[in-house]
Amino acid sequence: MTPKGAQATTPHSSRRRYLFATFKNRLDPAESVDLALKVRGLIELRKREVVGLCPSALAIPWVNGCKGGLALAAQNCGWTESYSLTGELSVRDLDVFSIPYCLVGHSERRTYLGETEEIIGRRLKALLAASIVPILCVGETLKQRRAGQSVDVIAEQLATLGDAFAACALKPDPTGAIIAYEPMWAISTAASHLALTPADAAKSHEGIRQSLDAVFGSSFGDATSIVFGGSVNGADAKSFFGHPAIDGGLVGAGMQTAAGFADVLAAFYACARIG
Ligand code: PGA
Repeated sequence: MTPKGAQATTPHSSRRRYLFATFKNRLDPAESVDLALKVRGLIELRKREVVGLCPSALAIPWVNGCKGGLALAAQNCGWTESYSLTGELSVRDLDVFSIPYCLVGHSERRTYLGETEEIIGRRLKALLAASIVPILCVGETLKQRRAGQSVDVIAEQLATLGDAFAACALKPDPTGAIIAYEPMWAISTAASHLALTPADAAKSHEGIRQSLDAVFGSSFGDATSIVFGGSVNGADAKSFFGHPAIDGGLVGAGMQTAAGFADVLAAFYACARIG
C-alpha cells in the first residue's frame, strides 16, 4: 500500500513494540486463565516492549487475577455520551481492572456487525477521553485492494482517529493510540482467506505512516507503533516482526494455544531492536 513516490522510513528506535494475543470468543474464562497461567512465566519485563492478552469481556476479571507481567486489552468498549447501551462495556468497566488498551474497529466487527466509522469514532472518543489506548484496526477488503483503493480506505479509517482526538480536544499523541494493520482478507477467519507476504505487509505499514503524517502532521507516522495482524503464527512470525516497519503483532489463532503462544513470543523477542 505504498503511495507513489513513497520512501521507506527508517525504524524509529523509540517506537514501542507490542504483541497482543486475542482470544476473540474462542476461549472461555477457564481456558483463558489456563493459557495465561501457562505463558505468563515466559514474559520478560522490557521497557520498550509490551506483551498482552485480549480475553473476552467475561474472562477479563479472571485473567486479570493471574496475568503476571502480561498486559490486558479489552476487545471492545462502548460509549456513554447520552444514553445507555445494553450489552456493551463502558470505560468505567475497563477502569475497574485498570485495563490500559482496547481494540477498536476490528474487521470481524466491521464485517459481521456492520460497525461504521461513526460507531468506531464514538468508541475511540470514549477511550481517548478516559486515557485508555485504543488499538485501532485498519485494513482493506480484498475487493478494495484489487481495485487499488487500499490507501484511500485506510486514510479514511485513520481520519476517524484524527476526528476523535479533535472531539476530545486532545493534542494528537503518537503514543496515545496503536494502529493494527489487518487486511480483512488475511485474517484467519476471513471467508476469502489469503496470505500476505511480510514484504507486502511492510509496504502497507510505510503507506500507513504516510497517511498518518497527512492526518496528524509530519513525523507522526514515524513515531506511531503499527503492529501487523493476519494469520501470523510461530513459523512466519519472525519474517513479519523482523521488518523495521512492523512493530509487533495482533495475533488470533496462532497464539490461542500455549505452544503457539510460546513460538510467536520467542519470534517477537528475537526481533527486539537495539538502541
Ligand atoms: P488471526 O487473527 O491471527 O487468527 O488471523 C488476528 C485478528 O483477528 O486480529
